[in-house]
Amino acid sequence: MGLLLRGILLLSACTFTAGSDFQLGSKPSGQSVFVRQSNSEERAAKIAKRSLLPAWLAPSPNHKIKRRSAEQGDSCQVLQGYNTKLADNTHGFTFNDLSGSVSLAWVGDGTGVILALTTFQVPFFMIRLGQSKLYRSENYGKSFQDVTNLINNTFIRSEYGIAIGPENSGRVILTGEVSGGHDSRIFVSDDFGKSFTSRDLPFVPLMQMVYNPESSNVLVVLSASNELWLSEDFGTNWKKIHTMVCLVKWGRKNTIFFTASINGSCSDRGMLELRRTTDYGNTIKTVASKIYSFGLGGRFLFASVMTGKGTLRMIHVSVDQGESWNMAQLPPVGHEQFYSILAANDEMVFMHVDEPGDTGFGTIYASDDRGTVYSKSLERHLYTTTGGDTDFTNVTSLRGVFITSVLAEDSSVQTVVSFDQGGEWVPLRKPDNSKCDATSRDPDKCSLHIHAAYSTAMRLNVPMLPLSEPNAVGLILAHGSVGDAISVMKPDVYVSDDGGYTWIKALDGPHHYAILDSGGLLVAVEHSPTQPINQLKFSTDEGQCWRVYNFSQEPIYFTGLASEPGARSMNVSIWGYRESLLSQYWISVTIDFRDLLTRDCQDEDYVPWLAHSDDISDPQDGCMLGYKEKFLRLKKDSVCWNGRDYEVDTVPTPCPCTLDDFLCDFGYYRQENSSVCVEQPDLQGTVLEFCLHGKEEQLQTSGYRKIPGDKCEGGTMPERKEIDLSQRCVSDLLGPIMIDKRPSKSVPIVITVIIVMLLSIAAGVVFVKKYVCGGRFLVHRYSVLQQHVEDNAADGMDEPLETNHSHNGKIEFHDDSDEDLLE
Ligand SMILES: *[C@@H]1O[C@H](CO)[C@@H](O)[C@H](O)[C@H]1NC(C)=O
Ligand SMILES: *[C@@H]1O[C@H](CO)[C@@H](O)[C@H](O)[C@H]1NC(C)=O
Ligand SMILES: *[C@@H]1O[C@H](CO)[C@@H](O)[C@H](O)[C@H]1NC(C)=O
Ligand SMILES: *[C@@H]1O[C@H](CO)[C@@H](O)[C@H](O)[C@H]1NC(C)=O
Ligand SMILES: *[C@@H]1O[C@H](CO)[C@@H](O)[C@H](O)[C@H]1NC(C)=O
Ligand SMILES: *[C@@H]1O[C@H](CO)[C@@H](O)[C@H](O)[C@H]1NC(C)=O
Repeated sequence: MGLLLRGILLLSACTFTAGSDFQLGSKPSGQSVFVRQSNSEERAAKIAKRSLLPAWLAPSPNHKIKRRSAEQGDSCQVLQGYNTKLADNTHGFTFNDLSGSVSLAWVGDGTGVILALTTFQVPFFMIRLGQSKLYRSENYGKSFQDVTNLINNTFIRSEYGIAIGPENSGRVILTGEVSGGHDSRIFVSDDFGKSFTSRDLPFVPLMQMVYNPESSNVLVVLSASNELWLSEDFGTNWKKIHTMVCLVKWGRKNTIFFTASINGSCSDRGMLELRRTTDYGNTIKTVASKIYSFGLGGRFLFASVMTGKGTLRMIHVSVDQGESWNMAQLPPVGHEQFYSILAANDEMVFMHVDEPGDTGFGTIYASDDRGTVYSKSLERHLYTTTGGDTDFTNVTSLRGVFITSVLAEDSSVQTVVSFDQGGEWVPLRKPDNSKCDATSRDPDKCSLHIHAAYSTAMRLNVPMLPLSEPNAVGLILAHGSVGDAISVMKPDVYVSDDGGYTWIKALDGPHHYAILDSGGLLVAVEHSPTQPINQLKFSTDEGQCWRVYNFSQEPIYFTGLASEPGARSMNVSIWGYRESLLSQYWISVTIDFRDLLTRDCQDEDYVPWLAHSDDISDPQDGCMLGYKEKFLRLKKDSVCWNGRDYEVDTVPTPCPCTLDDFLCDFGYYRQENSSVCVEQPDLQGTVLEFCLHGKEEQLQTSGYRKIPGDKCEGGTMPERKEIDLSQRCVSDLLGPIMIDKRPSKSVPIVITVIIVMLLSIAAGVVFVKKYVCGGRFLVHRYSVLQQHVEDNAADGMDEPLETNHSHNGKIEFHDDSDEDLLE
């Protein structure tokens, strides 16, 4: 069937020999039953349960399916006179600007300050000719002032973006280029972009300046010649800390971690040293050697370290900033494979381990609270080596919910969801109001499939990734299709109001969407790159009913929606352009919804809602990772304003423990259909290096360990004497990790591709990038005004697309630690 999106395996740039040098699952055959095909009617997911040697448990007979959070009538209620109310609050702004791309950044929290940087660039052999213009708004985008004079008409390197400082520091850095790219100058502001001062740099930067998340005065950056530079006075004075630095990241408490090459080449992966400085470069300590790469996630520091056996490398974990290391109980990988941190917090990490061979998939492992013992969570997890694309999504509107895609045996791409932090993965339920499409064999049984990063990388017509916000409890907006696997046909927009248990089809065809007022208001604009539009859709009932508002008489070519990050705003801007006879010019239309939702929400506008539950009166219901949470949520039919200060109202209550609140510790496993962790009869043949390097106290175990983040109390606690596993350890791999063996042959370069939050692949919003310090600041980068790009989407796109990818194979800093390619 030509409608399925199949995993297409592009040949990677690096060649590799077939991954026969090690066997991933070289386990005794009797114990290899760690995966199960789910019920034949839901043939999408592969499910594995937590345990060391994963053996699946009988799944709970039927997954809890919650009712909608508030009774919803069939018909949409009347909302009187919204057209005139909105028309009075619609502000258009026309930019006298012909540039091809606009970058937007919000400066500060609730300040209403937006900087818009337009760049016009012509690549001309080695020289780049370019022109930048800077605009500033102080009223959430309703009007802008041209402040290009503040940057002295310097060409700003838009690929380095607008670097916004952490917290509400009001700091901004723009990286400029003078005299044909040989010199560099930055423009810094510490007053929310009101004024800028220029500073000449004693080097050419290779990347965007990186703020110390704990002190916005301190910046680090790598130079084009791989020197590590640091400034402690917001860019005035710079000192060179180190040469031959390949990758740098800020850790906690003013710590800087970086890999350095002793031999002078960052392509000498596997021979790097991981170094650390806690005093801004005065003293530098080597914390690990033979490093391939490193990553930070939550409180964990990960390094992939050469094992000394051929080109194999393994993950080592430190929870004390590199003072001491433990070997992670994860399979080693060869040079053509990679590790990737999918998500991490202080409690646990999801790690993807690529399969040998260019399969396009791998296995997700979930860690314990120490980051050392891992349970297999999901097999055949789609993650292409070439594009670095994974659909793995943390649904931030409900605790424990994650959505991703698997590559089925027939190469179709299918969506699975976990409601318990990776314990079990199931297909998404079919929305009641949609029919199975042509991809399904049975017209009545099929599931919903969600488009995420892989689909945008495949250049399907998917303008936005799934959207959820922590303050819009339970809400998810996403593009998808309903069938046996995801379809390449035009997707529709689906909404869930209960964290992904149930879905409805909300809008036909692809849209851009945004969450405003903590979920009290949703807005969407149809994605139509070739047809000018003039309509905005909005919903005050979590996507059940949508109303249409004509924001302008004269349609515009729409490129993207912009609203303040954090989903608390009531102002949304529609960006696009118009064409006159000879030229095109940028337009932004900002709509303030405050006059529509005039009433402040009162207590009676909220209803209690128990997450992960379908029966709020059942005392056993709704337990997730040892506790349940009751929320107060806005009633669907309440048309009122949550307000900027709205806080999610939740009452967590602990649940009694069961054995399912525990995972099996190292050396233990679960037998089929049982919750009991039994001792592994023979540790030989498994990864025993853990024993060798494991700290003594970690080898004292009763076989059970609480699942990270689980807060159950009382109930069934496993009672078993602790035993000392260390006597049972055998290993053929010797030597602590700090010992330097003779260097192996230089390791081929695996081209690093960093995950980009792609918003759109065609003309329009090209991407939204998460900035330092928790993603408070988003930069939308539009790249349009040339429609032919859309018609010709396959050939390359214009420059902003490459921004987050590595430059010429050099590793680029990547500041979103939630999604981290460790390699
Ligand atoms: C702009 O250029 C003028 C003259 O070259 C210089 O005096 C001024 O300091 C510059 N301003 C900034 C912000 O760089
Ligand atoms: C440095 O690299 C060269 C050539 O790649 C190699 O011959 C030499 O052994 C390396 N030295 C070290 C210390 O790695
Ligand atoms: C998922 O997102 C939530 C909300 O932002 C966050 O609290 C949690 O730590 C994240 N989980 C992981 C594993 O990163
Ligand atoms: C809104 O715009 C559409 C065309 O995009 C038009 O057909 C419709 O009549 C307009 N509605 C109003 C109330 O102006
Ligand atoms: C919307 O913008 C106006 C300024 O134009 C601002 O006063 C108001 O606070 C904004 N509303 C929200 C909810 O951010
Ligand atoms: C586990 O349970 C399933 C379904 O209940 C059953 O088909 C299977 O035989 C059981 N396996 C064992 C080893 O008991």
